[in-house]
Amino acid sequence: MRKRIVAGNWKMNKTYEEALSLVSEIDNMVKDEVNGDVTVIVAPPFPYLQSVGKLTQGNDRMFLAAQNVSEHESGAFTGEVSAAMLKSVGVEYIIIGHSERRMYHHEDAQTLYKKLKAAIAQGMTPIFCCGEPLEERDADRHFDYVGKQLHDSLSYLSNEEFDQVVVAYEPIWAIGTGRTASSQQAQEMHAYIREQLSRMFDAEAAFNTSILYGGSCNPGNARELFSQEDVDGGLIGGASLKSRDFTDIIKSF
Ligand code: PGA
Repeated sequence: MRKRIVAGNWKMNKTYEEALSLVSEIDNMVKDEVNGDVTVIVAPPFPYLQSVGKLTQGNDRMFLAAQNVSEHESGAFTGEVSAAMLKSVGVEYIIIGHSERRMYHHEDAQTLYKKLKAAIAQGMTPIFCCGEPLEERDADRHFDYVGKQLHDSLSYLSNEEFDQVVVAYEPIWAIGTGRTASSQQAQEMHAYIREQLSRMFDAEAAFNTSILYGGSCNPGNARELFSQEDVDGGLIGGASLKSRDFTDIIKSF
């Protein structure tokens, strides 16, 4: 069975103190209010990973993610952070290929493939993001666009490597805009992604892959989105910065 996951991507927000308060609140609310088998992930900025991880250590439903990783193993790469370093401070998931990194840091498909390999080599789970810009959707090319993103970075992985991957579909026009994909738009793209994955890997692996939706997901729309057959959870930006909203999203399953 595939995992149901709600992951909070804090992006470049919160000071150290604010980050610790936020994660303590989430930790308490998850312990008190969340039943069932949802995997809860928080992705704070790099400098807070270890402290945030310590605070969630006693909560077996909460896990730590990084927002990025270097494609290199080690060495003279000033400002970069390797998968082994992240693993050594308790990180288990890594967001790879977020549209903001593709756009502002020019991360291309080959670089993303190397980052996937680096994470997988350390036994970590990449959350691989894909999603089309508005002009591709308006031109009715969104399926081809997302299919190419999947193919260009994922198809070089072995079946075994792919088993570790989680996919997140995040239409760029829905990120931080308040404009969410309808549950029908999300479902049809998620089903398409699963079908593409079943062509690249074995059908069982594709069936068992968690595919998350991201883009203005909030407590008001999460239940409807998560009720779709191929939507296995969410990658949450803005709403993950408020403990109440984030917990209510987690409770939407
Ligand atoms: P948003 O961001 O929820 O603020 O739209 C989602 C994301 O970028 O992961």
